[in-house]
Amino acid sequence: MSDPHLNERTTEDLVRRRLAEVLDPEIRLPITELGMVSGIDVDSAGTAHIGIKLTIEGCPMRSRIVEDVTAAAVRAQGVRTAEVELGVMTPEERAELKEHLRGGSGAKTNPFAQPDSLTRVYAVASGKGGVGKSSVTVNLACAMAEQGLKVGIVDADVHGFSVPDLMGITESPTRLDEMILPPVAHRVKTISIGMFVQDNRPVAWRGPMLHRAVEQFLTDVHFGDLDVLLLDLPPGTGDIAISTAQLLPGSELLVVTTPQAAASSIAERAGALSTQTEQKVAGVIENMGPMTLPDGSTFELFGSGGGRTVAERLSETLGGHVPLLGSVPLDLGLREAGDAGDPVVLSAPGSPAGAALRDIAAKLASRPRGIADRSLPVSPV
Ligand SMILES: Nc1ncnc2c1ncn2[C@@H]1O[C@H](COP(=O)(O)OP(=O)(O)OP(=O)(O)O)[C@@H](O)[C@H]1O
Ligand SMILES: [Mg+2]
Repeated sequence: MSDPHLNERTTEDLVRRRLAEVLDPEIRLPITELGMVSGIDVDSAGTAHIGIKLTIEGCPMRSRIVEDVTAAAVRAQGVRTAEVELGVMTPEERAELKEHLRGGSGAKTNPFAQPDSLTRVYAVASGKGGVGKSSVTVNLACAMAEQGLKVGIVDADVHGFSVPDLMGITESPTRLDEMILPPVAHRVKTISIGMFVQDNRPVAWRGPMLHRAVEQFLTDVHFGDLDVLLLDLPPGTGDIAISTAQLLPGSELLVVTTPQAAASSIAERAGALSTQTEQKVAGVIENMGPMTLPDGSTFELFGSGGGRTVAERLSETLGGHVPLLGSVPLDLGLREAGDAGDPVVLSAPGSPAGAALRDIAAKLASRPRGIADRSLPVSPV
């Protein structure tokens, strides 16, 4: 006959296995791996008593964690109901967790600047404002995340931040002491200065402070292992664009332009910046391109062909092939989706803009992870 103790142990094991499928909503790793499960006990009535240690007191995600833990526990065979008892990690446990998250590397570093980092970093740039950088950033991020990549966004437009609204994020990041956990929306870990300012007040910072803000996003925010990090830059070739290049030597530029000739020559300047910063230009994205009307005719508010021209001229200036990655048409749906915080690649994947952006995301996603083609900071003799 079966030993009741053995059965009990087995049921608890089953519960633990189920709990390993529960991800911490912010850290996106199994709660079992994070040391958040302090005890599992299943009584004879089939009630699982589960102790969960939250990372911080008053964790904003606690009801979500309780829900997820309960749902996972009752999926275990032999469990009818679950009761979750919440506690909080001690400072020592939290220190251990932070150490674990940093991969045992101890000190704070900018993981994306390490020579062995495998994360591809794209800085989305343009010569002038309003051409759609932020819209392109969030849509590419969401499309790549949907394709299975681990994706993060740093909103580096400190004065003109717009990423939280476009991603529909209203919550503030959770802090683990000095470590900041980025909110996750549409499977993308996102950080923006907009999450730290009160009442949408403007951020009146100058050069050094801006540099420090971007640096802090890269060192204090725990993104974990990412396949791709996208940075939404402010328009132009100012301080932040240069800071970003310094802080992320391996980053590549994605130049966004409208087809309009004037915008295009300015766009070239954004691309040509890369010769000074030694960044690679991964490609040009034309936005607000020709739109097909219901009668089949095309409507070109900003003309056409500008993206190709910019790509060709940048190829000449930089002495290497700069591809035109795609043209995103003018599409009212893109703006409406952005206003609703539900990027068009997810809310209307088959729409003209949604399809074009998904196509560009697929091209970027298929580029291998790694350091193989990265230029070395030395010049050949
Ligand atoms: N393809 C498009 N079709 C229609 N509207 C678009 C398209 N691309 C962007 N928009 C709209 O244009 C406006 C500006 O876009 P967005 O904020 O993405 O540009 P930006 O380059 O980031 O601007 P800024 O320089 O101010 O940061 C937004 O209202 C956005 O919804
Ligand atoms: Mg923007």
